[in-house]
Amino acid sequence: MADQLLLSLGPRPESLPGRYVRPAPQRPRLSDVDTSASIPVIDLTAGDDPQIVAQIGSACRSNGFFQVVNHGVSSELVMKMRKIAGEFFRLSAEEKMRLYSDDVGKKVRLSTSFNVKKEEVHNWRDYLRLHCYPLEEYLPSWPQKPVAFREVVSEYCSEVRRLGFRLLGLISLSLGLEEDYILRALGEQEQHMAVNYYPPCPQPELTYGLPAHTDPNALTILLQDPHVAGLQVLRPAGKWAAVDPHPEALVINVGDQLQVLSNGRYKSVWHRAVVNSEKERVSVAFFLCPSNNAVTAPAEQLIGEKSPAMYRSFTYGEYYKKFWARNLDQEHCLDQFRSYNC
Ligand code: OGA
Ligand code: NI
Repeated sequence: MADQLLLSLGPRPESLPGRYVRPAPQRPRLSDVDTSASIPVIDLTAGDDPQIVAQIGSACRSNGFFQVVNHGVSSELVMKMRKIAGEFFRLSAEEKMRLYSDDVGKKVRLSTSFNVKKEEVHNWRDYLRLHCYPLEEYLPSWPQKPVAFREVVSEYCSEVRRLGFRLLGLISLSLGLEEDYILRALGEQEQHMAVNYYPPCPQPELTYGLPAHTDPNALTILLQDPHVAGLQVLRPAGKWAAVDPHPEALVINVGDQLQVLSNGRYKSVWHRAVVNSEKERVSVAFFLCPSNNAVTAPAEQLIGEKSPAMYRSFTYGEYYKKFWARNLDQEHCLDQFRSYNC
């Protein structure tokens, strides 16, 4: 029984089990994906240089996605994070099943697909989900193995949080807001992490690692597998584009909360992860989230006669509940929060 709950427990099937097979119109059509698209790479060396602010603004407006290099998270730590993430999924079945849960409300859990209790078709992914802030509160319930897990992941969380705050400052400036506007609006930000494990898949053209979705939080910082591609983003013209791994870059995307705060100027763009038949892929997604009681609303300065408020205000607690109550790939969760003016 247990060995059917997580893909990473094996054995690997020769053909894709029916519960992972998408109906024909929903399949990824891998041959239609643009593999030569370039997602902007922004060098953060120069601090808050107006040029960086302009580059970030332009990337958030057009793609909702960009990559950063010289981001301040040490390459040694990134290497350790990647190593420990891979090792985690090689732990014994007994060790992993101790952490398994299909309860999406649990703050530390190892699970599979997205929301197995709710969805009709599953996704070819296992994931470890951790709440990480405040660290002292969650650290005691994190995995104890591999041995260095808690040490490496907590250091990674602190460094990436620092980077996230810096980016939110630059994003505020790029919207013409005060540098700390978004930081103040989001309150004492929570921080969640998903370590995603996508095993080789016998029929990748029939399924997803993660189907098209937008991220419900404010800002996502993704560490891709350096060798195996899988992340794809929907471009404004309606074509899916692959985000090829860049060995030194972290991938940044605008989440739903920033789309609201920016009154729709910045887009929380649809993205997905596809799988492949040859290689496993590991990615580490880091989500900055407003505190549960922070109220998200379009910034006053971005509301005007020609740009009325596109969304009503809401707390993140309310939003987050709605997000997990849906299937991942149905309509944009934000559509449920549109203002009646529009
Ligand atoms: C996510 C996500 C993409 C990837 O975890 O929200 O979009 O490449 N992951 O794993
Ligand atoms: Ni995502």
